[in-house]
Amino acid sequence: AAWEKQVRRSSTPRRPNGLSVLVTGAAGFVGSHCSLALKKRGDGVVGLDNFNDYYDPSLKRARQNLLKQQQVFIVEGDLNDAPLLSKLFYVAPFTHVLHLAAQAGVRYAMQNPQSYIRSNIAGFVNLLEIAKAANPQPAIVWASSSSVYGLNTENPFSEIDRTDKPASLYAATKKAGEEIAHTYNHIYGLSLTGLRFFTVYGPWGRPDMAYFFFTKDILQGKSIEIYKTHDQKEVARDFTYIDDVVKGCLGAVDTAEKSTGSGGKKKGPAQLRVYNLGNTSPVPVGRLVWILEGLLKTKAKKHVITMPRNGDVPFTHANVTLAHKDFGYKPTTDLATGLRKFVKWYVGYYGIQPRTQKESQPTEE
Ligand code: NAD
Ligand code: UGA
Repeated sequence: AAWEKQVRRSSTPRRPNGLSVLVTGAAGFVGSHCSLALKKRGDGVVGLDNFNDYYDPSLKRARQNLLKQQQVFIVEGDLNDAPLLSKLFYVAPFTHVLHLAAQAGVRYAMQNPQSYIRSNIAGFVNLLEIAKAANPQPAIVWASSSSVYGLNTENPFSEIDRTDKPASLYAATKKAGEEIAHTYNHIYGLSLTGLRFFTVYGPWGRPDMAYFFFTKDILQGKSIEIYKTHDQKEVARDFTYIDDVVKGCLGAVDTAEKSTGSGGKKKGPAQLRVYNLGNTSPVPVGRLVWILEGLLKTKAKKHVITMPRNGDVPFTHANVTLAHKDFGYKPTTDLATGLRKFVKWYVGYYGIQPRTQKESQPTEE
């Protein structure tokens, strides 16, 4: 069928010893960037995405178009569709899965808790069930989250730190994913690498994230809320630029060992790893807004309010020593530089007035 032909073509690497990667969540923010980067270096890439409407689906379609131009095919379907996934693995013998599909967002978990269970727990398990039965068994690299550190007060966060205080259901499902990964690694010999991303931002980003809707609201003259903690401290995030995260994802894929098969009987235990992928430099939300005001040449209407108990944590801060040691991960983009690139994309994508565009024109590139 035409579908199979497209999957086969898209999954075939174009370089010697190239990989064949299934990227779930390929129409998403991180997934679209990673798919393009893998394709660019000659790996075979097939996407999977259900194009749900958690945020503007037209943005997902625009990302899909971008991938299509680079001959990356996205299969439209759900993680929970076992027959579809089986067929996919049957048609294309993937060497790797970069699993980025999930119900993201911290605060939305209070509105739609079930969507987190469905995608982040049931969907992940379904994918692992299919992967364990596939031949060859792919190595799996998947997105966990900085939110697993929850209300931990150790600073910065290292991978060995406690993760027993999730502040949101989102965080709880990401933490559950790590436990589930351990089980599949132990019983079925699947090679699994979890990546704890820290508040990723950049061009083609997610409209539900603060930097994105702050930009929109500032440009439209609407007021924004800046959270401070209950003890009146500034809320801070280790904002990490998308290109740095993409390099980390590819580094994790490249250093993933093969799955060893059932019980690891053949070659000893399979690999199980977890890494922080952050920027190592937390920035208060107030400062993020200040940078945006400068780039947009517009004063924000700010309301500083005490953080509602909505699943947010007071701060995040990554120690990335482990990822640096194992695959040379080194974040290189500071928040001002990364936001400049985001704003440049934003005004172009939404066709904002040339006046604003001109004033916020970056000096480099
Ligand atoms: P995103 O929402 O842009 O991308 C996720 C994609 O997965 C979406 O396109 C969505 O349509 C798809 N999807 C969701 N549920 C699905 C399902 N059941 N079946 C098939 N497709 C499904 O989010 P993102 O920012 O690109 O995040 C990627 C991953 O990284 C997620 O696992 C997220 O939890 C994690 N993460 C993101 C950040 C961040 O700041 N962006 C930080 C930490 C962790
Ligand atoms: C982000 C992503 O949305 C999650 O999917 C991801 O898992 C998480 O990063 C992570 O690193 O694990 P978050 O850091 O909450 O979550 O990102 P935003 O929603 O963009 O919020 C950024 C900061 O702005 C937070 O400190 C938040 O408290 C603050 N904020 C948010 C405000 O001050 N005002 C608002 O109106 C909204």
